Amino acid sequence: RAFLYRLWKGTVSSKMLNPRLQKAMRYYMSFNKHGVRFRGRREVRRTGPELLCELRRRVRVRTLDGKEPPFSALGWRPLVPGVPLSQLHPRGLRTCAVVMSAGAILNSSLGEEIDSHDAVLRFNSAPTRGYEKDVGNKTTVRIINSQILANPSHHFIDSSLYKDVILVAWDPAPYSANLNLWYKKPDYNLFTPYIQHRRRHPTQPFYILHPKFIWQLWDIIQENTREKIQPNPPSSGFIGILIMMSMCREVHVYEYIPSVRQTELCHYHELYYDAACTLGAYHPLLYEKLLVQRLNMGTQADLHHKGKVVLPGFRALRC
Ligand code: C5P
Repeated sequence: RAFLYRLWKGTVSSKMLNPRLQKAMRYYMSFNKHGVRFRGRREVRRTGPELLCELRRRVRVRTLDGKEPPFSALGWRPLVPGVPLSQLHPRGLRTCAVVMSAGAILNSSLGEEIDSHDAVLRFNSAPTRGYEKDVGNKTTVRIINSQILANPSHHFIDSSLYKDVILVAWDPAPYSANLNLWYKKPDYNLFTPYIQHRRRHPTQPFYILHPKFIWQLWDIIQENTREKIQPNPPSSGFIGILIMMSMCREVHVYEYIPSVRQTELCHYHELYYDAACTLGAYHPLLYEKLLVQRLNMGTQADLHHKGKVVLPGFRALRC
């Protein structure tokens, strides 16, 4: 519990993680699979409001538009959606929910509150059916990693989870954001299933995030963190929060910073236990959470009992 209290207050450090997670972190640090080289400057003293304005100034949600090589030569231009993700709701949504897949959301009875938002973002294969009371049943946007597209076990082609929603896919690219290298060697091949899906369902909004956007978020996390963070992309959760901050006037994030229900149960829909799901091993998840904790404008009671963080959308900020 002491760890949880310090996470709520934002005073936790990776040194307080269990030895197994610390070892995993050290492994990823030395492996540096994506060739990360941090060139920014640490600016760790920013207050929450200063950080919010910095995010608004810098964060630009970007998706593949088919105009850059190799995608231009591959004929992607007419295949990607005509309307960019950032323009789907040009006047912005009022309030939005980001629902993390954490086990801690079980028995929360947050479903009704979540569904009352104008838009709801969910992740990967997180279901609503059978869990409505705790997670609600509305889904507006779903962020999926490349494994969902590439691994047949997820039934991307025919599962109802991926129908009638805005889909946003991503895959870890080299830090250099060299699109040619990435296209030749993605983590999981998301390109072929993406194009197939675009041909079959041309009216469904479906985007692939630009590696520059993902690594820009990584740079911002590292700049604002005292410790050296894992040289791997931020988690889908952090990416989703920033996408919704660009599209909504207010963003309510559920069970990212864990509530009193904190558990090692990885996902609410799966019987699998691992503290790394909540605290991170591959992803710099602990540092993402410390950053989001600093930005929280919600109450301590909501944080403790709902695992809820309230963030202003970029267009609601006065900077
Ligand atoms: O595991 P998955 O990536 O599908 O979960 C979606 C997001 O929810 C993660 O990227 C992470 O940010 C967040 N999450 C969490 N704690 C968990 C499980 C997921 O914070 N136990």
